[in-house]
Amino acid sequence: MDHAYAPYSKFHVGAAVLLTDGRIFSGCNVENASYGLTICAERNAIFQAVAASKRKPKIIAVAVATDPPVAASPCGACRQVIWEFGADASVFYKGEKGIVERRMKELLVDGFVLD
Ligand code: THU
Repeated sequence: MDHAYAPYSKFHVGAAVLLTDGRIFSGCNVENASYGLTICAERNAIFQAVAASKRKPKIIAVAVATDPPVAASPCGACRQVIWEFGADASVFYKGEKGIVERRMKELLVDGFVLD
């Protein structure tokens, strides 16, 4: 979160993913003057894990950190990307009344898969 590049929204997000092999990868949001090119912290963290893995990484848990006291659950695009690597993962984020833990299957119903 401290490394977020968010000069436009000023909304700093950090995310970490825990893999089945015990490794943890983190990421932050990286914005762009062409707003639509922004990448969320969650996807950044997952892509770091993929880039450092020879085989498809399996995600057990995801944690999302934000600095303002606002609820911030992963966006829909990030939910689909988490699904790809961790359909059974637990996701932790700041809710209205503190830290929330949810299973991916609660956050995304019928995620898209291509096998
Ligand atoms: N953002 C994330 O990094 N993760 C989310 O799940 C929601 C939104 C970022 C994207 C953008 O840089 C800023 O938060 C405001 O939308």
